[in-house]
Amino acid sequence: MRRKIVAGNWKMNTTVAEGVALASELAANFNQVPADVNLVVAPPFVHLTSVAEAIKGTKIALSAQNCADKAKGAYTGEVAAGMLAGIGCQFVILGHSERRQYYGETSATLVEKIALALENGLQPIYCVGEMKDERLAGKHFDVVKAQIEEVLFGLTAEQMGHIVIAYEPVWAIGTGLTASNEQAQEIHAFIRKLLADKFGAKVAEDCTILYGGSCKPSNAKELFAQPDIDGGLIGGASLKAEDFLAIAQSY
Ligand code: 13P
Repeated sequence: MRRKIVAGNWKMNTTVAEGVALASELAANFNQVPADVNLVVAPPFVHLTSVAEAIKGTKIALSAQNCADKAKGAYTGEVAAGMLAGIGCQFVILGHSERRQYYGETSATLVEKIALALENGLQPIYCVGEMKDERLAGKHFDVVKAQIEEVLFGLTAEQMGHIVIAYEPVWAIGTGLTASNEQAQEIHAFIRKLLADKFGAKVAEDCTILYGGSCKPSNAKELFAQPDIDGGLIGGASLKAEDFLAIAQSY
């Protein structure tokens, strides 16, 4: 069954103490979150164990923001999927546009990362989305199609069942510009059709596809009301418990 997910990508923000305070506030107010909405927080790596403690006993799930494309060994500065699973992560964000843009992450690397995440029982939140010039040139469908095909089409239908997709148009991230409901719905439906053609109708129907990009309490409700939008991957607005909880209540 398709799940509703509201995930907070904290990016490189908050000290550990601030992160624990934010997570504790979410935990204390978790009763505000509708029963069928899955809340996920993705703090920086060094916060994970402390945040895991702060959300213990609640239904809030823990996510990392990245993982290595290698299982273990001499890869200075990297963090393996197995290590993340070992400290209680259930999800890992992979292919975020900031990693593609600033850290040269490619489809080939992402294929490895997704395989390792799945092997270790983590659910990847795989991000796709076009840049502003690509949208203006009318290439957004082609860009998203390539990102999906190159990274996900080598998976089995069973593996695909563990993947969450996040459509995040790069021009909407942190800019205050949000894709219109129609723009977002159109791409989400397109992604679901790609999945249906490759993996079958059931996998496509069950896949959770999130929208990300300046999603906030004032626009979440109408975005989430679209038939193919199953929640959000929230950046800036996830750093304030009140806003994040308001978004989670927008179904
Ligand atoms: P903003 O919500 O700050 O636009 O960020 C979206 C995002 O990149 C989530 O991964």
